[in-house]
Amino acid sequence: MKNTVTINGKINKFNKKIYVPGDKSLSIRWVLMASQGIGKSIAYNLLKSEDVLSALNAVKKLGISYKINNKYCEIKGRGLNGFRFKKKTIINAGNSGTLARLIFGLLIKTKNEIILKGDKSLSKRDFSRVAVPMQMFGMNIESRFNKLPIKIKGTDYPRPIDYIEEKGSAQVKSCILLAAMNTNGVTKIKCINSRDHTEKLFKYLNLPIKIKKNKKLEVITYKGKKNYKGFKYHIPGDISSSSFFIVLTLLSKNSKILIKNINVNKSRTGIIDILKIMNANIILKNIRNYKGEKIADIYVKSSDKLKSIKCPVEMNSRAIDEFLLIFLTCAKAKGISSFTKIGELRNKETDRLKFANIFLNNIGIKTKISKDNFKIYGNPNLNLSGSYKIKNFDKDHRACMLSLIAALVLGGKWEVHDTDSINTSFPNFISILKNLGAKIK
Ligand code: S3P
Repeated sequence: MKNTVTINGKINKFNKKIYVPGDKSLSIRWVLMASQGIGKSIAYNLLKSEDVLSALNAVKKLGISYKINNKYCEIKGRGLNGFRFKKKTIINAGNSGTLARLIFGLLIKTKNEIILKGDKSLSKRDFSRVAVPMQMFGMNIESRFNKLPIKIKGTDYPRPIDYIEEKGSAQVKSCILLAAMNTNGVTKIKCINSRDHTEKLFKYLNLPIKIKKNKKLEVITYKGKKNYKGFKYHIPGDISSSSFFIVLTLLSKNSKILIKNINVNKSRTGIIDILKIMNANIILKNIRNYKGEKIADIYVKSSDKLKSIKCPVEMNSRAIDEFLLIFLTCAKAKGISSFTKIGELRNKETDRLKFANIFLNNIGIKTKISKDNFKIYGNPNLNLSGSYKIKNFDKDHRACMLSLIAALVLGGKWEVHDTDSINTSFPNFISILKNLGAKIK
């Protein structure tokens, strides 16, 4: 893929059916869970992006073999704590926060020291959120300011913990659950609701997980250590990847799209609920259940009567990866949109709140920003004709894809750099755009 692309002018109207690649969260979880199963696990439609390849390479370094071809991926596990590796093994998580944070949990009992590292962007991110609970289990962790690279050594006798998770982070919750799998006794996590794919996988595998949930909070208990057999999994399409096409369609004239076979787990569909409140035409069709996950086809039509939103705080975690797209939609909506307690966006692949603020100001949209809150003064007549250059931003894949969508719906002449970052989550993004008629060079 070329590393800089140019777009000159909006996309013409389209009416298409598309497929997007497998869900990233589920793909990484499948790799990690399969590495702990007894025997062969197979995944179909595994996302083949850099983040998932980093996960496969990580388990390989830990002595678990895998095979991947065009049809499926196969992993052969040895059961819980079945990793075999040399002293001072280095694992490179690349750009993947999910891999880097979740894998801590699986290393809780490792006898040999491991060094976990990542790329420049991941090395700026905070790991105290997983280091603290892992140390409570008994893990030895050495780092500078809780940043990668981090030296990890497990313990022979992990202690089950009671933990209160206050960020609404699925990565933290999942990391604790993976450690709990390898720990005798009952671990308890009280947390703000966040995506629940790990819990759904545990349930599907008949692992002894108990969940009590209300609108905001959940209490999860898990009793370790139960082994499970390798398993087959068909990974559904990724709602986060679909969202770029949902917003592209909404903001393009006279267009329609059907996005097939997407995971519409309630903990991930904040973007759909937010856009619907804003008057968007989005319908879920052909809804079905797969191993506890809800799957559907997403049908979207252009909407030219979008209105602003006062975004309910409960949506924050349900739309955590989609806010750049939501902000772009607000820029084209009538009225002032406001978002509260969204400071977690500053801790993503780049500071996405800062990025959004600069980005929107550059295209002529007024904003108000504070540490935790954001206001956008929408302009339904926003159309661009100037020149725009988007560079760097820690090579955040979602910031890069957002820029391409903005170029295609707003017009103007755009030069978007660092498009190789898109490979972390969505390698064929540009080819799908071209298929819809986008002229991208
Ligand atoms: C993810 C959880 C979210 C999300 C990330 C994927 C996961 O992060 O932003 O892209 O798969 O568990 P947090 O848990 O930090 O909110």
